[in-house]
Amino acid sequence: MNTFVKKALNRIIESFLQIHFFSNKAELTYQAAIEKHVDNLPFLSSNDMTIVEALRSEGIVITSLTALLIPSTLQMLQATKGLIPKISQSIYRNKTEYAIHANPKQIIEYREIFDWGLEQRLLNIIENYLGLPVAYLHPSFRRDIANQVQRNTRLWHLDKEDRKVVKIIVYLNDVNDDGGPFQYIPLSFTPTVTRSLRYNYGYIQNQTMQQVISPSNFKSCTGSSGTVIIADTAKIFHRGKIPIDSDRFAIFFEYTSRFPKYPFYCKRSLTNENLLILATKLSENQRRCIFWRL
Ligand SMILES: [Fe+2]
Repeated sequence: MNTFVKKALNRIIESFLQIHFFSNKAELTYQAAIEKHVDNLPFLSSNDMTIVEALRSEGIVITSLTALLIPSTLQMLQATKGLIPKISQSIYRNKTEYAIHANPKQIIEYREIFDWGLEQRLLNIIENYLGLPVAYLHPSFRRDIANQVQRNTRLWHLDKEDRKVVKIIVYLNDVNDDGGPFQYIPLSFTPTVTRSLRYNYGYIQNQTMQQVISPSNFKSCTGSSGTVIIADTAKIFHRGKIPIDSDRFAIFFEYTSRFPKYPFYCKRSLTNENLLILATKLSENQRRCIFWRL
């Protein structure tokens, strides 16, 4: 389906959902699905439950690979070491471009990165937060270039794919305030900002955002290599601050429920053929997380 048709379909779905009747019905269906799934939620340790509770109350948790202790972290980091030099060879193709992503062939070749995002403990945390079975939207391995391009995800926005969208962002180099940190506005401001901007969707220029909220409330997630940010990017306004000093390498793992509110916004860079190759070593539960589309 081409981009124009997808956008048109999204607008149609949004218009329907904005009509009170359909909006109420969709909300009731969503609540019923959560209630139905509550007894199926996987058990969490108290440490992992703390992450879920912080996501509920703050919309964001900042931790590290060391603190998370995910079993395949070493293999994942080993894969990033192989992949980083390959990304650096393909930069500066286009003047409006600000990030270079690993392509599907590279994601398959360095599959340990893809596999890390499907670690059962991470899936269990996310399922408890979503309250629904998890859809894994593939990892985005990216190099954000230190240039002045200011568009799309470098502008303020909320993610639209679903009611809750979990992003796990792993920094692969040290990121200070000039190194292109993930920036966000605390969850408590979301209702006021949404109302003041009459925000529905799209990207907001920084100058516009500063007219409705003081920049002293903008939070930069700085940290050393191995910093992990877990955020609900549908609930907190966020952007990637432009890197000034040097390019930023990071991996973005993204998750929604398997019945996202706006499925056409759920981008896919991996084809079914790609996923079938990656699925060969996965458990049944992990396979359900990648083959969730109707
Ligand atoms: Fe986003």
